Amino acid sequence: MDVSLATALASLTTGIYVLTARAGGVQHGMSASWATQVSGEPVLVMAAVDRQHLTHRLVLDSGAFGLNVVGHRSRHLEDYFYSARARHPDNLAPFALETAATGTPLLADALASLDCRLVAHYPAGDHTLFVGEVVAVRVRQADRPLTSQDLPYVYLGGKVLFDQASRRPLAP
Ligand SMILES: Cc1cc2nc3c(=O)[nH]c(=O)nc-3n(C[C@H](O)[C@H](O)[C@H](O)COP(=O)(O)O)c2cc1C
Repeated sequence: MDVSLATALASLTTGIYVLTARAGGVQHGMSASWATQVSGEPVLVMAAVDRQHLTHRLVLDSGAFGLNVVGHRSRHLEDYFYSARARHPDNLAPFALETAATGTPLLADALASLDCRLVAHYPAGDHTLFVGEVVAVRVRQADRPLTSQDLPYVYLGGKVLFDQASRRPLAP
């Protein structure tokens, strides 16, 4: 990707989340930044997930997902899901989990978690836009949400992250 385009895209500030899902006995999570609220009534949120990711299949199989908001005090969640330690199926074992309405595992360390029932999904290039109706919510900590501007790297799709300081691709 052209450096100017990557730099401009990296300036689109996003939140930092962990998307969780459970299907077929597998409980799994991944770092997610392409996520946002997309309707007020009913409350709908959207997460864009690469079709190659394991989480993609789990969301489709279960018809549900959890959007866990990472705060400054729960940055260890992003550190873990960014790391090689998380790159295996069933990667939620290190963390305390809660389940709400859909049965999706939610991260008890997150600032807040939205438990979502999948109501629509749309293809968008190499990603799928998963739209979820929020059916339960947990709010746990008074903390500031982490954003993409707080991390040295930015997700721009594909397997490579963008290094904010050097403006070069970074091996994940
Ligand atoms: C900060 C950050 C944000 C990310 N945001 C997304 C995202 O919004 N959508 C996506 O498909 N992948 C995103 N990724 C990449 C996935 O988290 C990563 O490829 C993960 O290993 C996929 O997990 P899975 O195949 O185990 O489901 C992001 C990665 C990082 C580090």
